[in-house]
Formats: sequence, structure tokens, C-alpha cells
Amino acid sequence: MENAGIGADGTGRRGFLARLAMLSGLGTVAAVASALAARYIYPLKSIRLKRTIFLAPKTDIPPGRGRPYRLPDGGTALVTDTGTEIVALSDICPHLGCKVHYDGARGKFVCPCHGGVFEKDGTAIAGPPAEEGKNLKRYAVSKVGENLFIDFEETIQS
Ligand code: FES
Repeated sequence: MENAGIGADGTGRRGFLARLAMLSGLGTVAAVASALAARYIYPLKSIRLKRTIFLAPKTDIPPGRGRPYRLPDGGTALVTDTGTEIVALSDICPHLGCKVHYDGARGKFVCPCHGGVFEKDGTAIAGPPAEEGKNLKRYAVSKVGENLFIDFEETIQS
């Protein structure tokens, strides 16, 4: 008498299901191994994308004050009319990452954490950033008609 679908030679229903489960597992392992091998043989490529992004009408930038704009990478550009030009600088201090603001009275960008001071073009002139030679990241700003645009570059993996 046969036992619950298992034949004497192991070819019954349970034997078939056990082999099917084993083959399915092996197939999954082979697929994962193939994907890992393919990624090793053909590594991800880094592509640099340069985009021009609309910021705002020029009239939205108040003279002497920095206005923050969110960038596609999650960072922020502090767009400021310094009186002589409109600049867009990262608001992240290159020393330890505090938020920098524009001090219109001094005509400088200032970091409140350790006294970092930057010129209008982002060049560090005092405090730890100047000692380390680390300037604020600057983005190119262009004006088309009455609108302001920013050049934004990012690296993506494909
Ligand atoms: S974090 Fe800005 S000066 Fe230290």
C-alpha cells in the first residue's frame, strides 16, 4: 500500500512537490548569483547631469537678504542679492555643517557655530573654514528676462 501519495520509488505527489520546491530554491539562488555576477562584471556607471533650474522672478529676491531655495538633491541654495550681483551659495558651512546666513549689514555670509565668515562670493575669510581653506559651494545664477535660473549639477548611478 502506498503512503499519502509517495510511491515506493519516491515519485509520488509528495516526491514531486519536494523536487519542485528544491528546484525553485535552486532557481532563486541561481538568479541572485547571476544578478550579483552581472553587477560585478558591469558595475554601475556614474553620470553627471547638469540642469538649469528655474528659481524665481528677480523681484522675489529682496536686496540684502538671503532667500533659501530647495535643490533637487535635498540641499538648499541661499540666493542673495548682495547689491552688486545675485549669488546662490550652499547654506551648509563647510566646517561642520551649520546653517550659514547672510548678514546684510556686514555684507558677509556668517556661520553662527564657530565664527566662520565668508565673502559675498563664498570665499572663507575668517574662522575655521578660512583656516581650512574651505569655501561655500557656489552655484551659477543666470538671468533670462526677469527670471532667475540656477545651474545645478548632480551625479546619478545607472
Ligand atoms: S560649522 Fe561653521 S564655522 Fe564651524
